[in-house]
Amino acid sequence: MKRVCIIGISGKLGQHMTEHALARGYEVVGVCRPESVAKLDRFAGRITLFPGRTDDRAVIAQAVKGCDGVLTVLVPWGMQHYASGTAQAVLDLAEPGARLVFSCGWHISRDGKDRYPLKLRAFVAVFGAVARWLRLVDLNDQVEATRRIFASDRDWTVVRGSDLEEGPSEGLPVWARHVGDPVLASNLTRRTDFALFMVHALTDDSLIREAPAICGCNAPSALAHAEASTTL
Ligand SMILES: NC(=O)c1ccc[n+]([C@@H]2O[C@H](COP(=O)([O-])OP(=O)(O)OC[C@H]3O[C@@H](n4cnc5c(N)ncnc54)[C@H](OP(=O)(O)O)[C@@H]3O)[C@@H](O)[C@H]2O)c1
Repeated sequence: MKRVCIIGISGKLGQHMTEHALARGYEVVGVCRPESVAKLDRFAGRITLFPGRTDDRAVIAQAVKGCDGVLTVLVPWGMQHYASGTAQAVLDLAEPGARLVFSCGWHISRDGKDRYPLKLRAFVAVFGAVARWLRLVDLNDQVEATRRIFASDRDWTVVRGSDLEEGPSEGLPVWARHVGDPVLASNLTRRTDFALFMVHALTDDSLIREAPAICGCNAPSALAHAEASTTL
């Protein structure tokens, strides 16, 4: 992994991924909306930017050229198929053999075998309906984006984030294939560690074509799981 592209680099997750990628010595290029370029001033001279919408295929084609890995922040803004357009552009235009890592939330299910807490089901139902009615966010389009990724034969990983909190890194999150696994019960990850997991996934082949649901390694459920494993 020498050169990585971060699609959606100016958001909170994008900036944390930039820090982790630079710390590993990767060359970093990124795509963000033109109005958000100034958010990245602190990285001036250390990254290369391609301003544009993340579903703009011409911009994505330029940005991913020569990249060994692509980290994509999937967001379902608006009603113009932003998330699926972004995912499709990356799937179509990234270099052959590139590692493709996408972000989303626990609400995305690969095989329908996740068992969600009532609170999350209620939030997705209410927020999804209201946001769609206001034409602000289309959660269904994020589902469509991941459906296309899951159907792809590229080397993808879809990282599914729990609820997030700010704060310094605690280390690499734990993960499970399905929400409902006891190790994830605390449903809380530091945002910087979500980014750490995304960058880690670039070089972890065991995560190819997996959709890990993650949780902070210091969360009570993760610690309880680690303790039980040690006792056994
Ligand atoms: N609780 C949570 O927040 C949570 C939980 C689990 C998973 N996730 C996942 O985490 C990822 C995003 O997290 P984040 O911390 O980076 O969020 P964020 O800081 O809000 O940024 C998300 C991205 O959305 C873009 N964006 C914002 N408004 C937009 C608009 N009107 N049109 C187009 N793009 C717009 C931002 O670009 P600009 O910089 O240009 O605004 C940025 O690239 C998503 O994949 C989400 O599913 C979040």
